[in-house]
Amino acid sequence: MQDTVSGLLLCGKTIGFVPTMGALHEGHLSLVKRARQENDKTVVSIFVNPLQFGPDEDFPRYPRDVEGDTEKLAKEAADILFIPDAPLMYPEGFLTRIEVGKISDKLCGFFRPGHFIGVATVVAKLFHIVKPTRSYFGQKDFQQAVIIGKMVRDLNMDIDVVICPTIREKDGLAMSSRNAYLTQAERKVSGVLYRSLKETADLLTSGIINSIHLKEMMHEKILQEPAVSSIDYAGFYDPETLKELSMIQGDVLLAVAAKIGNTRLIDNILVTMRKER
Ligand code: PAJ
Repeated sequence: MQDTVSGLLLCGKTIGFVPTMGALHEGHLSLVKRARQENDKTVVSIFVNPLQFGPDEDFPRYPRDVEGDTEKLAKEAADILFIPDAPLMYPEGFLTRIEVGKISDKLCGFFRPGHFIGVATVVAKLFHIVKPTRSYFGQKDFQQAVIIGKMVRDLNMDIDVVICPTIREKDGLAMSSRNAYLTQAERKVSGVLYRSLKETADLLTSGIINSIHLKEMMHEKILQEPAVSSIDYAGFYDPETLKELSMIQGDVLLAVAAKIGNTRLIDNILVTMRKER
């Protein structure tokens, strides 16, 4: 991979990179499409990164479909598919970790300790291997995209981090490889997460900005659905610091993480509040 990329860079080609964990869906493919539009060559990686899963999380059963993924990427005319294996990425004695301070402990980081250290470490490695001009991330994993953007700036990596819109199913459910875990009954009701975000966003833009009241309503709406077993978080956050907001103004991240049955799903919407004159 490194030799191939060095050759491309010597020829002055730009490289668009989409890191993934595979089981590709239209969300992933939208990133590939965008990378193709904006770069001479497109590289996609598939690596289910053990370092970003907690000991009791779904690493062993995470969906894997390299054959199907290869076909989808051929259809999208991605140029290079990079599938490293774990011993190559983490040979015996691998010690280095990348930790992007405060913002890694908020939101999902609070409920998945160490998760974003695993993400930042693997993405830093992939960036060094692939040497992309631009790398593409989905807004669906908003915190991840913010953390990678911060890592790139803090470590002077010469890479543009491009955040792309969340691709959804017809009922609003954000596409995710983990949606495959949902039973039919759970899948039917899982649109509730996006619906509650959207309804709250609409109330916000219509001028209702009592964050305590809105947050309560959002929690109630989600929990009305009996298939929702728990909410990790659902509320209003600063899109840069990821701190919870008590005053709603400027750019607001509405974000939710909840379990439907045993499956943990996340989603978010960004809202920009117009300034009062
Ligand atoms: P994965 O979950 O496979 O996602 C790969 C990329 O696809 C991420 O940037 C993610 O935000 C984006 N994506 C997922 N669902 C999307 C959707 N519905 N719409 C738009 N984009 C979507 O995220 C990871 O893998 C890993 O943490 C990784 C960055 C590869 C590091 O291991």
